[in-house]
Amino acid sequence: MKKIALLTSGGDAPGMNAAIRAIVKTCLNEHIIPFGIYDGYKGMIESKGTALTYSDVDNIIQYGGTILGSARSEEFKQEKYRKQAIAFLRANNIDGLIVIGGDGTFTGAQVLSKEMNIPIIGIPGTIDNDIFGTDATIGFDTALNTVIQAVDKIRDTASSHHRVFFIEVMGRDAGFIALHSALASGAESVLIPEEITDIQKLVVDIKTQNKGKRSSIILVAEGDDAGHALDILNKVKPYLPEYDLRHSVLGHMQRGGSPSVQDRLIATRMGNHAVNVMKSGQSNCVIGINGGLLVTYDINQAIKEHAAPNLEYLRLIEVLRTK
Ligand code: F6P
Repeated sequence: MKKIALLTSGGDAPGMNAAIRAIVKTCLNEHIIPFGIYDGYKGMIESKGTALTYSDVDNIIQYGGTILGSARSEEFKQEKYRKQAIAFLRANNIDGLIVIGGDGTFTGAQVLSKEMNIPIIGIPGTIDNDIFGTDATIGFDTALNTVIQAVDKIRDTASSHHRVFFIEVMGRDAGFIALHSALASGAESVLIPEEITDIQKLVVDIKTQNKGKRSSIILVAEGDDAGHALDILNKVKPYLPEYDLRHSVLGHMQRGGSPSVQDRLIATRMGNHAVNVMKSGQSNCVIGINGGLLVTYDINQAIKEHAAPNLEYLRLIEVLRTK
């Protein structure tokens, strides 16, 4: 193992830089050349990459985003473009590949590993936390902190004006961000893709919650089956003529910002472990964290199985609701 390539792909996540730093420094300390590929698989197709040095990763642990850049590459799904990517890796004598991203990123690595016969390791990096087999993904904790800061601020104005707020958070396929931030911000309700939304129940809930209260906050995951926050507001509106309803979409601010301590720690540990695991000869696996301990598991599991949020949190939100 003389040269290991690394890339970040899919939606960026705070803490990706901490993982890059750990991979690069571990490689250099082990006399392995770390080769950074820019802009994910898109950059691999376009031959964009370079060997990285200590100074490339100095003072990056505190920054959100990714110094390597990221992309969602549709082209990489086609064999003719993957051939170009493989030629680039071969021309640069790459012996192994570490990818940081979500399940789409892992799928790309898995295909590449078969077609090129190269060892690959995945590190879960996505604010959505929707990767099977790990308690946390890089970026989730920071995104939650960003969301609850915004929700706390909206609560101030909602209370001043006796309003009901529908706040939309990211989570196209999964409700982790909505569910965890609802519980952590004291929201009255939460709507997630994992549960079918019952508009009539929501109307009743809003009426009950709002008795004697100055505001209600309903967190909505963007992938909820009843639609986006504004759609849901419009669906309940006819049944709540006496209520002052508003909505707010937090959007991409959730993906930025300086990573939290937790994200820096897991990213650093996972990055270092990925190099060690690759050096030991393991391949086609994902690095996860379970009960605080680093684990490795089959990348196929991470791709095929679904991570499910703890629905006990939903029950707790109901239990703690003002009656
Ligand atoms: O990073 C994952 C994610 O945040 C999803 O929750 C969201 O739907 C998506 O990214 C948005 O991606 P893009 O920036 O490509 O629109």
